[in-house]
Amino acid sequence: MVVLGIESSCDECAASIVEDGRIIHSNVIATQLDLHQPYQGVVPEIASRLHTEWIQSVAMQSLDEAGMTVGDLDAAAASNRPGLVGSLLVGLSFVKGLAFSLDIPFIGVDHVRAHLYAPHLEQDIPYPYLGLLVSGGHTVISIVRGFDDIEVLGTTIDDACGEAFDKVAKFYHFGYPGGIAIDKLAKNGDPKAFNFPSANLHKGNHDYDFSYSGLKTAAVNQLDQFWNRDYEKTPENIAASFQKRAIAMLVKKLKKAIKDTGINRVVAGGGVSANSYLREELTKLYQVETYYPSLLLCTDNAAMIAGIAYQYLKRGDRDDLSLNASARVPSFKRRYP
Ligand code: KG4
Ligand code: ZN
Repeated sequence: MVVLGIESSCDECAASIVEDGRIIHSNVIATQLDLHQPYQGVVPEIASRLHTEWIQSVAMQSLDEAGMTVGDLDAAAASNRPGLVGSLLVGLSFVKGLAFSLDIPFIGVDHVRAHLYAPHLEQDIPYPYLGLLVSGGHTVISIVRGFDDIEVLGTTIDDACGEAFDKVAKFYHFGYPGGIAIDKLAKNGDPKAFNFPSANLHKGNHDYDFSYSGLKTAAVNQLDQFWNRDYEKTPENIAASFQKRAIAMLVKKLKKAIKDTGINRVVAGGGVSANSYLREELTKLYQVETYYPSLLLCTDNAAMIAGIAYQYLKRGDRDDLSLNASARVPSFKRRYP
């Protein structure tokens, strides 16, 4: 089954042709990065306008690169949640129109689930596993028992992990997007230069939850308070110290989840799973199988949309033209909706 996937939830306008949920015939990603760069962050109005202008040529390019025409498509899919609603609507409306005119099925898929599906495009990964989804919008640790069966153990109570990277980088003018800039700078820095705090959520039932706003505030507003004066206060040292603490928080919860559930297989996805230090730390986990997608499939792409869509379509799921986009999903706790 040949599926066209469209991803437009944020600032990447992407289209991909994937066969049988696994064979990637094309994976086009038109990034809006340069156009949001002056604002050091994604401007929703600019994002949705650019998606409107680009979507058709991006989709046509994905067909060209696959050596196919619209007549070869068996189905079409788009991410319809969560994300910037104006941006999501562009991809969703495009796919609805295309599916209607070609009289083929279409389906809207969840962007978060699609990120966790991304490594399945490249490798055979048995279920169950612990899924670590770390991106600009989400920080989720979950038990994944099937492509659509996710039990959320914990999530962020404030900023997402990637968001903290982006905000720290923005404040210090390290570069945009922030995660990549910090990852690069950190390679030449000493993580002992600043002893940033890690949040301990004592109150309530927060065994697997994360909090990144304290770390972000410490790095931005209280730098001197955590400075080890034997070291220079360089961008490299700030980046390395921040990154070390941000990743340590993820690894700590992951280790607890491995111990508590007895599941010793971990799959990471989302933009922050491209982080070189996180990858190093994951491979160090004792007797734990770790998987993550190649760099191109970590950040937003449409191959993950077409890939997971195939799994839904194969079991007979279809959406109708009344399907809407939504900025959020109802709940991130326990069984994922
Ligand atoms: O998955 P993604 O493309 O979009 C969302 O769904 O949010 O993730 C983007 C996030 C941004 O916060 C970006 O700074 C972060 O992923 N990111 C990284 C790295 N590459 C991208 N964070 C840390 N290290 C990286 N190498
Ligand atoms: Zn994403």
